[in-house]
Amino acid sequence: MFRAILSKKDLSKQDEYYACVRDLLDDKSVLSLSGFRHHIGTTRFQHSLNVSYYNFLLCRFFRLNARAAARAGLLHDLFFYNRKTHEKVANSHPAEHANIAYYNASQMFPLNEIESDMIINHMWPMTPTLPRHRETFVITIVDKFCAVAEVLTYAMRKTGAKVRFAGSFALMLFLKLTLKL
Ligand SMILES: [Fe+2]
Ligand SMILES: [Fe+2]
Repeated sequence: MFRAILSKKDLSKQDEYYACVRDLLDDKSVLSLSGFRHHIGTTRFQHSLNVSYYNFLLCRFFRLNARAAARAGLLHDLFFYNRKTHEKVANSHPAEHANIAYYNASQMFPLNEIESDMIINHMWPMTPTLPRHRETFVITIVDKFCAVAEVLTYAMRKTGAKVRFAGSFALMLFLKLTLKL
């Protein structure tokens, strides 16, 4: 079951969306992104799925190329290394990972002009070239929105765990004191 953050929908049952990305969601390399941690509390696959789905919804709403948006979203972070380890070696991950993702994606899948621009420039304005398509401006926003949502969700999960732990601890302490009395 594929599900985007903040959504309860099974994306494999969202026919219009699924038809755009079915081949990518069947691909072993794309699925292997679930083996890489991304934005602290999620995986690179889940992040890519989040960006893909919200890209699709936003571009469809604005009558842009929603298919390209869905596909580029799934491929925009298609790199197969651990970011922390890589930074120790190259120290330039934010600037270069979009080019690496584009290279990988272009070797594995046919990409049209819009999809290519969306992948190469998804880090704009951190990348030097200006996006050439409106869909690319959408992915720059959606990517950042998803990153924030992912970190906040992770933080809330952690806080929730602490609240539950504190509640259990308080209950245990209460029972202990009560029994002593
Ligand atoms: Fe990225
Ligand atoms: Fe991303």
